[in-house]
Amino acid sequence: MTRRRLETEGTLIRRGAFAKRMGIKIAPSILSARFDRLGDQVREAAEAGADMVHIDVMDGHFVPNLTMGPAVVASIRPLTKIPFDVHLMVTHPQRFIQPFADAGVDDLTVHVESDHDVRTTIQAIRDAGVAPGIVVNPATPFDRAQPYLADVELILIMTVEPGFAGQAFRREVLPKIREARAYLDREGLRAELQVDGGIKIDTAGLAAEAGADILVSGSGVFPDHVAANLKKLREVAERPRASRP
Ligand code: DX5
Ligand code: ZN
Repeated sequence: MTRRRLETEGTLIRRGAFAKRMGIKIAPSILSARFDRLGDQVREAAEAGADMVHIDVMDGHFVPNLTMGPAVVASIRPLTKIPFDVHLMVTHPQRFIQPFADAGVDDLTVHVESDHDVRTTIQAIRDAGVAPGIVVNPATPFDRAQPYLADVELILIMTVEPGFAGQAFRREVLPKIREARAYLDREGLRAELQVDGGIKIDTAGLAAEAGADILVSGSGVFPDHVAANLKKLREVAERPRASRP
């Protein structure tokens, strides 16, 4: 597949520089929302300026937890126009592409550690009219993701073991985030760099400085004080390195 580049008047816009200029995106994960009023929580996040809704799909097999499927996603889809970003933590991601496409999601990210041919799955996601992305676990080296980066819209780097919200941010993953940022910039690729796990006001700046374009946060945003939490996260993530304590 041809490498896609962002170009303006012949000048390559580097994604990292672009993201820094335009501000970082925040993707609240509804895994930490109150499920008895999920719709209200999605609206609350969207009205507070969330850039997308992060939806964690777990099958009880790839990870030891069960969450939500296409029916839940379809039921909240009409509540907002902001993109639905679906993180598939399942053993067989290819089985769920069409049901989530039908539910109206905007992107589907698949783990390179799942049981599938990654390239075929990426193409199947694109064929379903959805933006494809790949995910790597904390212990998985960047090299496992690198061959697919020209063909995806998103790379998600996990900073916790997938499966549960509320875990501590793993700082040892920061060099991999920097490595991915440098590679995307060097190659002029437009895939956005997303970081997920343990992002709170004390860690958002670390992920942003390492080069993230999008920060996922579950327990850092939901369930209470959603607007205030989002605002604080954004401030911390966008604060220049020099003024950070
Ligand atoms: C973990 C999920 C994360 C999780 C983030 O498997 O992929 O998206 O919801 O939650 P926090 O921000 O609480 O670590
Ligand atoms: Zn996630």
